[in-house]
Amino acid sequence: MSEPLIDPFQRAVTYLRVSVTDRCDFRCVYCMSENMSFLPKKELLTLEELDRMCTAFIGLGVRKLRITGGEPLVRRGIMTFFDSMTRHLDSGALDELTLTTNGSQLGRFAEDLARAGVRRVNVSLDTLDEEKFARVTRWGRLKQVLGGIDAAQKAGLRIKINAVALKGFNEDELFTMTEWCASRDMDMTWIEVMPMGDMGDTDRIGQYWALTDARAQLAKRYTLTDLAERSGGPARYVRLEESGQKVGFITPLSHNFCESCNRVRLTCTGELYMCLGQEDMADLRAPLRDHPDSDEALVAAIRKAISLKPKGHDFDYSRQDVSGQMSRHMSHTGG
Ligand code: GTP
Ligand code: 5AD
Ligand code: SF4
Repeated sequence: MSEPLIDPFQRAVTYLRVSVTDRCDFRCVYCMSENMSFLPKKELLTLEELDRMCTAFIGLGVRKLRITGGEPLVRRGIMTFFDSMTRHLDSGALDELTLTTNGSQLGRFAEDLARAGVRRVNVSLDTLDEEKFARVTRWGRLKQVLGGIDAAQKAGLRIKINAVALKGFNEDELFTMTEWCASRDMDMTWIEVMPMGDMGDTDRIGQYWALTDARAQLAKRYTLTDLAERSGGPARYVRLEESGQKVGFITPLSHNFCESCNRVRLTCTGELYMCLGQEDMADLRAPLRDHPDSDEALVAAIRKAISLKPKGHDFDYSRQDVSGQMSRHMSHTGG
């Protein structure tokens, strides 16, 4: 096997997140503006090119592939791509093939995903209240997502619910959402809201709900045990002893986890972002397209990019000011 991908801070890159489309059927307020302009189709990597990219990364030691977007399941033909990645699970080169989705299309695709070897799906869901759901997603319908979750569980997929923690919005659902997840045997992760995307009319500091507080609230009702186990991502988990349930916290603001970063992000146009919170990126589409019969140039471009991976993000809300802000939308890099 060739040399693994190690960055300048001695972190091994073994996790690739691939955004397969910048489009989405929702318009979550912290992620997109209402009138987004999307990339023209000709800019996108084809499904065959996505396959070649991912296969090159797997050859370089990537063991976990997460498909994101936008909403990955709105990309036309996406199941062909999942099906083609199954061979890397079968060969043992890949430990996990998974996706992060808003759940709206799971009713259609859950069985096909399970058949392709997907075992776990992360579903973004910030509230269980229909009216609030409509407000935060602008275009979404809660019933459709709940139906998608049902279909996924029926197909045998394990679900993790991801909720963006928003002050004054879903703080009051900390217990109801936790208990709902437990009752359905789903894991759950809360995520601190990051200063990304079109911040025009939003007040991210006002929205910011530090998860140190969520944890303290949970500790009033449950006995919490810190777990050392990780799911391969940045979440830190606690177990609620009374229910046995696991709850995760993703805390880019209140507790930086960049020192253990193991991932990079490929966009649907073939840009490789070495950090979610920095502008640095490398174009991998040119070396891919310019050399249809050899991956040599592509692999060299990947190695060069990894050698430039930044130490971490600069997000910070302290001093009553937002710093480290990124104008790039989360849907561009897939979170
Ligand atoms: P698992 O641990 O496999 O469940 O996955 P994960 O937590 O890596 O994936 P998921 O898609 O659930 O990630 C949830 C969210 O955490 C992302 O959408 C981002 O908002 C955030 N996140 C993931 N990785 C990073 C990272 O490297 N830096 C920062 N700042 N946020 C991240
Ligand atoms: N801050 C934190 N999480 C975000 N997501 C989208 N935008 C933001 C943001 N500004 C989350 C979504 C989804 C994942 C892809 O990223 O809710 O769970
Ligand atoms: Fe779509 Fe996800 Fe962004 Fe919401 S957070 S608009 S579901 S890509």
